[in-house]
Amino acid sequence: MQQIYLDHNATTPLRPDVLEAMLPYLHTHFGNPSSVHRTGRRAKQGLEEAREQIAACIRAKPAEVLFTSGGTESNSLALVGAARAQGPAKTHIITTPVEHSSVLACVQALSREGFSHTLLPVDAEGRIRADDLAAAVRDDTALVSIGLANPELGTLQPIAACSRLTRQRGLVLHVDAVQATGKLALDMEELGADVVSLSAHKIYGPKGIGALYVRHGTGLVPVLRGGPQEREKRAGTENVAAAVGFGIAAVLARDELAAVSARLTELTARLWTGIQASVPDVVRNTPRRQCLPNTLNLGFPGASGEGLMMGLDLAGIAVSTGSACAAGSVEPSHVLLALGHDAQTAKSAIRFSLGRDTTRQDIDRVVAVLPGIVERVRAAGQTSGRE
Ligand SMILES: Cc1ncc(COP(=O)(O)O)c(C=O)c1O
Repeated sequence: MQQIYLDHNATTPLRPDVLEAMLPYLHTHFGNPSSVHRTGRRAKQGLEEAREQIAACIRAKPAEVLFTSGGTESNSLALVGAARAQGPAKTHIITTPVEHSSVLACVQALSREGFSHTLLPVDAEGRIRADDLAAAVRDDTALVSIGLANPELGTLQPIAACSRLTRQRGLVLHVDAVQATGKLALDMEELGADVVSLSAHKIYGPKGIGALYVRHGTGLVPVLRGGPQEREKRAGTENVAAAVGFGIAAVLARDELAAVSARLTELTARLWTGIQASVPDVVRNTPRRQCLPNTLNLGFPGASGEGLMMGLDLAGIAVSTGSACAAGSVEPSHVLLALGHDAQTAKSAIRFSLGRDTTRQDIDRVVAVLPGIVERVRAAGQTSGRE
C-alpha cells in the first residue's frame, strides 16, 4: 500500500540533494571546525558557508546566526538566555498559552527561578492582539515570546505589530519561527524580532540541527557552557554535516517558496472542500486567513482524534492528533483548550499537514476514505459510551 504522509508539521523527509551535500562532511571533511589544521579549516568552511546561506535566506548577518541542536534548544537558549541577561530588576515574561511545549516548559522553569509571567488571551483562532500585549507590559518585563506560526492550527500571529511595540518599549522579542521556516518568507528586518528560533527538519533538512537568530547587540547568557563555539553563546562541537544540510535545505526552500506555497494553498483548500462536503458536522479549527498554506486542523465531534488517526493509519495515511510532541499522550491539546474548546471537542481533532510532494491524488484518496472512518469511529464511541 502506498503511504500518504500528511504530517509535515511533525517532520519532513530529508531531500536527496540535501543528503548529497551533507555526505562529504561525514567522511572526507570530517574535521573539527575549531581545529586550526587544514582538515579543521575545511570543516569550518562548510559550517560558515551554511551560516551564510541561512543568514541570506532570512536577511540577517551571518554573525547573527548561531547553530543549535534544533528548535527546542533554540527556544530554550532564547527564553532562558535572554531572560537571564536582563538583570535582577526584570523578572516578568509575556507569552501566549498556544506556544510549543518547549517554550511553555522554559517559562515554567523560569518561574521556579523567581520569574513571573503573563499569558496573553487568544481568540477562537488562537490569535493574540497587539493591544493586549501593550496592556500586559510592565516596568519589570524582561522578555516577550510569541510563536510566528502555530504548529497545530497554522495560525499566524501579528508579529510585525508586536515588534513595533517591543521596540518602542525597549523589550526583547523572541519569535519561535520553527513552523514558519520554509513555509513563509522570513525577513528579520521586517519581522523586527530580536531572537528567532529555526529548525532544519521542518524544511526537508536533517533532524538535530537548528539555529537561533540573535540580533546584533541583544544580550544572551549561554545555557550550554564549555568551549567558545558559536560566539561563546553555545558551547560544543558543531554538527557540521547537519549544518551544511540545513544551509542547502534553507536555500532550496526559499527558492521554491512561491511555487510550493501556491500548490499547497490549493491542495489544502481541496482537502477542506472535499471533507466539508462528505463528513457531517466537521468543525474547522484552522483559520481561513492569516494561516500556513499547508495546515488543516479539523474537529469531528463524537469521534476520538486518536481513533481517527489510527483508522487513517490503517488506510495508509499518516496524520497527527496535534503537535508531535503531544501525540501519544491522551491529554487534549493545550492549544485547542486555550481556544475555549472543552476536553471532549479538543480530543476529536486531527491535523493534516501537507508537504511539497503531496499530490491531488493523495488528497482525493483522503477525501474518499475519511467519511467511512469517521462514521465507524463515531459509532464505536457511541457503543462504548452505552456500556
Ligand atoms: C513551533 C515549534 N517550536 C519548536 C519545535 C521543536 O523543534 P525541534 O523538533 O527541532 O526541537 C517544534 C517542533 O514541532 C515546533 O513546531
